[in-house]
Amino acid sequence: MTAPTPIIAPSILAADFAHLADEARVVESAADWLHVDVMDNHFVPNLTIGLPVVQSLLAVTTLPFDVHLMIEDPRRWAPAYADAGAYNVTFHAEACDNPVALAKDLRSAGAKAGLAIDRDTPIEPYLDLLPSFDTLLIMTIKAGFGGQRFIPELLEKVRAARRHAATGHLELRIEVDGGIAADTIEQAAAAGADAFVAGTAVYGADDPAAAIGHLRGLAQRAVSRS
Ligand code: DX5
Ligand code: ZN
Repeated sequence: MTAPTPIIAPSILAADFAHLADEARVVESAADWLHVDVMDNHFVPNLTIGLPVVQSLLAVTTLPFDVHLMIEDPRRWAPAYADAGAYNVTFHAEACDNPVALAKDLRSAGAKAGLAIDRDTPIEPYLDLLPSFDTLLIMTIKAGFGGQRFIPELLEKVRAARRHAATGHLELRIEVDGGIAADTIEQAAAAGADAFVAGTAVYGADDPAAAIGHLRGLAQRAVSRS
């Protein structure tokens, strides 16, 4: 089985929130997905944007939206993002007591379903739920803020999930989020990640589109070596 092409998903958390439409267009030709961090000031201390902004943004770009919900009570809010047209909707395992039911709702609303695992959450209890999901997002920092330092030890969860997915012949995107940059993406790809969120490394670069291309090349080479 050949490895799928790596997905690069720039996170608009690191973009200029006064010009979100322009910031989406800057990466449109280079990115695979646009990563949109929704934070509610309850599940995480930070607060970002919600459904109305995401709806408006969906209308101004052709990029598939990778919505990362860092919110409490995702069963109440997540399906609306799928209805709005998000490509992938990811919610946190820690915030949901019935992840499989919500994944089903998201898929019936026409979106891919994603499960996110925060820094302090073990992966093992969730491995058997993975057939219900299209995306598994492993945080490589503590969720809540951009610009934090990548924690390499968390890649052990990526390895465990990739092994499990291979054994079960699952088609699962394993996404890493937090501190992904030119000096960390190769180890994440070698561990089995095939979707990479990058905020600071893309929007902090002089040429965000070129930064995306560079990251994709590094991920591709790391996979072909491993
Ligand atoms: C943080 C968010 C990330 C954030 C990553 O909780 O989920 O998507 O934007 O930012 P960087 O790439 O700067 O670590
Ligand atoms: Zn995120």
